[in-house]
Amino acid sequence: MKNVKSLSLIATVLIALGFFGSRTYAAEENPCLVCHVKFNKPATSVHAVLASGCQACHMTVEGKKHPEHKDSIQLIRDVPQVCYDCHDRSQFKGKSVHPPVIIDTCTACHNPHQSNFKVLLTKDIPGLCFDCHNESKFKDKSVHPPVGKGLCMSCHKPHASTFSKMLINDPPELCYRCHDKKLFTKKHVHVAAAIPNGCNLCHNPHAGSNQALLLQPVFDLCISCHSDQKEGMHIIGSMRLGFGESIHPVKGIDDPSNPSKKLTCTSCHTPHSSDFPNLFLNNNLCKRCHKEY
Ligand code: HEC
Ligand code: HEC
Ligand code: HEC
Ligand code: HEC
Ligand code: HEC
Ligand code: HEC
Ligand code: HEC
Ligand code: HEC
Ligand code: HEC
Ligand code: HEC
Ligand code: HEC
Repeated sequence: MKNVKSLSLIATVLIALGFFGSRTYAAEENPCLVCHVKFNKPATSVHAVLASGCQACHMTVEGKKHPEHKDSIQLIRDVPQVCYDCHDRSQFKGKSVHPPVIIDTCTACHNPHQSNFKVLLTKDIPGLCFDCHNESKFKDKSVHPPVGKGLCMSCHKPHASTFSKMLINDPPELCYRCHDKKLFTKKHVHVAAAIPNGCNLCHNPHAGSNQALLLQPVFDLCISCHSDQKEGMHIIGSMRLGFGESIHPVKGIDDPSNPSKKLTCTSCHTPHSSDFPNLFLNNNLCKRCHKEY
């Protein structure tokens, strides 16, 4: 009698210590694993909740025998509700929400049990993304290094965000995570580069066929907003040097200050910001190419 009592006391203590609890999910402790042996195999990521058994998500249907009867085991709630039992719903809401999350298919990207990729993903990134997004848009003559390395998550959230396009921040702040903010915030800042999402007015964040991921070649890009400057009248006229109606070349010939490049708007102006007025590349601009001035 005494022995039985102390045995049950020991058992109670052991249960309280979690001895029979859920640290492992070997077949002896989880009867489901007797037959569902694949859940015993090691994997890159295993859903932590499996350790406490299968009943966190599945239940046996009364009156039916498993596995003989169809539908003998069901989810306690449909996806994604069953996931929201433990995962804070707010993470899946925001200004922009990923459509597959809106249409409630967590399992489009995650295996609910375990996976050979990190974070229970069904595939690695970016391969997973290219299942639904045309890969060719991310491949071109020049590719943004983080895109080329498949680091989609360095700019995007997978589910939802308080910014547009599931971004972790709006440009330019997003871009300053990796690009030195000082280069874009000198004394005179180009209005186009300063406004929210301004970087996207000129650059493709992923890939492109022009240098520096530009949406168009430099000259075309600049005159898309400054059509009045395309003839070069502004350069000489404004200096009031008495050249009358002369037109300064702005394209088509070599740039004397940079022999490997052709003359264009950025031979004299920086597209981002400058310590000099008119976004000039340097003080005494004319001297850059004309010794006589
Ligand atoms: C006696 C062996 C056995 C045991 C024990 C067992 N299963 Fe199954 N289970 C099966 C077989 C066989 C299938 C059918 C497999 C198939 O169709 O590919 C199955 C299918 C399933 C399915 C998918 C089909 C369905 O019915 O919706 C789920 C979910 C499932 N089992 C969960 C469980 C859970 C949870 C447990 C523990 C409570 C469990 N099983 C215990 C053998 C077993
Ligand atoms: C976090 C919730 C969750 C837990 C815990 C869970 N499952 Fe599932 N299981 C699911 C969901 C969701 C599906 C349906 C997957 C789908 O629709 O593609 C599923 C499907 C299945 C299936 C059929 C598809 C397949 O992958 O073979 C089996 C079998 C299964 N579960 C067995 C188990 C067993 C055994 C356990 C415990 C070791 C378990 N599950 C624990 C959520 C869970
Ligand atoms: C009973 C609670 C519970 C339920 C239900 C649940 N999870 Fe989890 N999930 C957890 C816990 C606990 C972790 C580990 C949390 C951590 O590491 O911070 C986790 C982690 C995850 C992870 C990250 C895994 C990793 O390796 O980093 C993913 C993805 C995930 N769950 C998806 C789901 C999905 C999809 C569903 C619905 C099918 C679901 N969960 C349902 C408890 C749950
Ligand atoms: C379009 C694919 C996709 C869908 C759909 C999706 N996820 Fe994820 N999820 C991911 C990716 C990718 C990560 C890993 C992000 C990383 O590497 O930091 C992730 C990470 C997670 C994590 C780990 C914690 C975190 O936020 O990093 C949890 C938990 C999670 N997802 C749960 C869910 C649930 C629940 C659903 C359904 C409501 C869902 N996911 C739908 C792609 C998806
Ligand atoms: C299951 C399909 C699916 C997968 C997998 C998927 N997406 Fe999507 N995603 C969509 C759909 C559908 C849209 C809406 C149409 C579009 O913009 O192409 C979308 C839109 C987006 C958007 C724009 C959101 C907005 O607010 O306009 C981003 C950013 C995005 N996905 C990134 C990713 C990344 C990164 C991955 C990989 C981690 C990924 N997607 C994986 C289906 C998917
Ligand atoms: C350097 C940051 C950055 C990286 C890395 C990045 N993106 Fe984006 N992505 C953006 C920005 C910024 C936008 C918004 C563009 C706009 O509004 O014009 C965007 C938009 C999108 C969109 C919406 C449709 C579109 O083209 O405008 C999808 C889909 C998308 N990204 C998928 C991906 C995928 C998949 C990867 C990885 C292969 C990835 N992104 C990597 C910054 C990034
Ligand atoms: C996760 C880090 C990261 C983020 C965020 C990022 N970039 Fe980059 N970017 C790089 C790296 C690395 C390079 C290559 C080295 C360099 O030029 O600094 C690069 C290069 C560039 C180039 C030159 C490409 C070429 O072919 O010459 C442009 C243009 C660019 N980034 C624009 C942006 C814009 C616009 C944003 C914000 C939407 C942004 N970047 C956000 C990492 C990043
Ligand atoms: C008005 C158009 C325009 C805007 C807006 C713009 N850029 Fe640029 N960017 C350019 C041009 C043109 C070049 C190529 C410069 C050259 O060839 O001398 C360039 C080059 C770059 C480079 C390559 C390195 C360098 O400085 O030459 C990076 C990185 C870059 N831009 C990031 C950004 C970021 C971040 C933003 C937003 C803060 C931004 N750009 C806004 C036009 C623009
Ligand atoms: C998306 C439209 C847009 C594009 C593209 C654009 N700009 Fe601008 N730019 C502006 C706006 C708006 C202003 C401010 C109003 C004004 O002076 O017209 C401005 C002003 C300027 C100024 C005067 C700055 C000052 O401090 O006085 C220069 C110089 C300039 N841009 C050069 C360029 C060059 C070079 C390019 C091509 C690399 C370019 N812009 C492309 C919109 C644009
Ligand atoms: C050879 C050098 C040079 C080149 C090339 C050049 N600019 Fe200028 N730009 C100047 C000078 C000098 C001024 C100063 C005008 C003033 O003081 O009023 C100026 C001023 C400007 C201004 C602001 C003043 C105004 O007139 O509104 C804009 C905008 C501008 N340039 C755009 C462009 C664009 C676009 C291109 C390419 C089509 C271009 N520039 C090519 C030298 C140049
Ligand atoms: C980036 C180089 C560059 C800068 C900076 C530059 N120029 Fe020029 N300029 C040229 C080139 C190239 C030509 C045509 C070839 C030549 O005559 O040297 C030219 C031609 C001229 C001509 C016509 C000469 C002739 O013989 O017809 C005048 C005048 C002139 N520039 C004035 C200026 C003034 C004033 C400035 C400063 C506001 C200036 N330039 C800045 C490159 C530049």
